[in-house]
Amino acid sequence: MPAIALKGSDVQWTCADDDTIMRSALRAGLGYPYECNVGSCGNCRFDLLEGEIEELRPDAPGLSDRDRDRGRRLGCQARPLTDCVVNLRLMPQYESRFPPARREAELIEVRDITHDIREFRFLLEKPVRFLAGQYALLGLPGVTGSRAYSMANVENEAGEWHFQIRRVPNGAATGKLFDGLSIGDRIGVDGPYGTAYLRAESDRDIICLAGGSGLSPMISVTRAAAATPLLARRRIDFIYGGRTARDICGEDILAELPGFGSNIHYHPVVSNADDDGWGGHRGFVHELAGKLFSDRLPECEVYFAGPPLMGQAIQKMLIDLGVPPAQVHFDQFY
Ligand code: FES
Repeated sequence: MPAIALKGSDVQWTCADDDTIMRSALRAGLGYPYECNVGSCGNCRFDLLEGEIEELRPDAPGLSDRDRDRGRRLGCQARPLTDCVVNLRLMPQYESRFPPARREAELIEVRDITHDIREFRFLLEKPVRFLAGQYALLGLPGVTGSRAYSMANVENEAGEWHFQIRRVPNGAATGKLFDGLSIGDRIGVDGPYGTAYLRAESDRDIICLAGGSGLSPMISVTRAAAATPLLARRRIDFIYGGRTARDICGEDILAELPGFGSNIHYHPVVSNADDDGWGGHRGFVHELAGKLFSDRLPECEVYFAGPPLMGQAIQKMLIDLGVPPAQVHFDQFY
C-alpha cells in the first residue's frame, strides 16, 4: 500500500492500491479539501512533489493545462502507483464527521417518483453513518468509474441508503440503474462525502432549493431538520423546480413529515411557459426564491442542489441579496 507524505509536516497516511489520494486521506480522518469527487470542481488540487500516480480521469475539467504543467494533480482522480510526497493545505472543515467507507450494497426496493426520477433503495452489507445532505459514490457493474448521488433518507441502524435519481438520456450510469439492475443485485457504495449537510445546531429558518436529482439531498435535509426539536421554532421552505408539470415532485414525501403545512412549506415552480396544464408558480427556482423570500434569505440557512445552470443562478441570486456564504450549503458537481 503506497504511503502518502505531506511536505513540511509529519502527516502521513496509506492509500489502498485501488483508492485515490484524496479519498484515502478522508478515510484517515484528515481534512483534505474537496467537493465533487468526480474531477469537476478542482478543489482537491495538490502538488505532486515525488512519486508516480495514475490519473483516473486524464481529461478532468477540474485541472487546467497550466495546473498540469506546474505538477498539480486532482486528489480525487489520483491513484498512487508508488509512495508519494504531496503539498496541499489540510483544512479542519473538511474532516469527516463519519469517515467514508467502501461497502457492498444490495438493491432492495425501487419506486417511481416521476416519469424520469426513481428512488433506489440499497442495503449496505454493514451500516455506515452519514449526515443529511451528503452523497455517495456508486460503483455500478459494467460502468466505468463511479458516480456521485446524494442520499434521500437519513442515517438508520439497518444501513439503508436511498437515492432519488433522475434518468440522464443515454447516460451509462442511469441506464444501468434504471434498466440493468434487478432487486437483489449488488453494487459498490463509497461514502459518505460532502459538506452540504444539515447544520442541525443552527436555529435559523431553512430554505431548500432543488431541481432534478437535487430532490434527493434536499429531502434528506428536510427530513432530518423535521426530526429535530428545533422544528417547533423554525420554518422550512422547500422550492422544487421542473420544466413542466409532470416534472414536479416531492410534496407527497414532505407531507409525511411532522409540521408539514405549519412549519414546512412546499412551493413547486414550472419553467416552461407553454405548459397550459399548470396553474401554479412559473419561472425558475432562483426567481421564485427571490420573489418569495428576498427579505428573509439573508437570515436563513440555504441549501440547494440540482442542475448546473440552476445552481449558478441560485449562487448569483444569493450573492446579490447578500446572503452570508457561511449560511449557504451546496456541493458543486460542475
Ligand atoms: Fe476533485 Fe472536485 S475535482 S473533488
